[in-house]
Amino acid sequence: MSVEQARVIELPKIGAPQGNLTFIEGGGEENGSVGHIPFAIKRVYYLYDVPGGETRGGHGHKTLEQLLVAVSGSFTLVLDDGRERRRFFLNRSYYGIYIPPMLWRELEDFSTGSVCLVLASAHYDEDDYYRRYDDFLRAARGEER
Ligand code: TYD
Repeated sequence: MSVEQARVIELPKIGAPQGNLTFIEGGGEENGSVGHIPFAIKRVYYLYDVPGGETRGGHGHKTLEQLLVAVSGSFTLVLDDGRERRRFFLNRSYYGIYIPPMLWRELEDFSTGSVCLVLASAHYDEDDYYRRYDDFLRAARGEER
């Protein structure tokens, strides 16, 4: 997997003087491959009350696909495929970053009061994680051969 396969997805934004609305429809084969993201949504979680300037993440996933959205505030997403790093600054509620499997990720510089919404392609499974960077690197480099 390459960091080049991560991408920004612009989401619909229904603007009104009373406020904006953004929605996300799941995709993948079970949804007829229509929707805003390339996978069916099996889980939703969100990070909140993160102290300003804090870092989270620091792991990789074997098979999980995710979409991250800064629904409030801002943070920086760092993706690493074992060869190259790519940084995304998120501060808009209508942009998501699609993260394919087999990328190491870190979330940095959370602004105070920010909320990171995550849509995931599978239920929580600790066995899908690489918690150690050296384990991730070995697997990522093995995959290239
Ligand atoms: P983790 O994925 O390591 O969070 P982050 O990358 O944001 O630091 O998860 C933190 C803890 O929460 C860990 O003990 C696993 C647990 N957890 C669940 O039980 N279910 C979930 O869906 C998620 C995302 C985490």
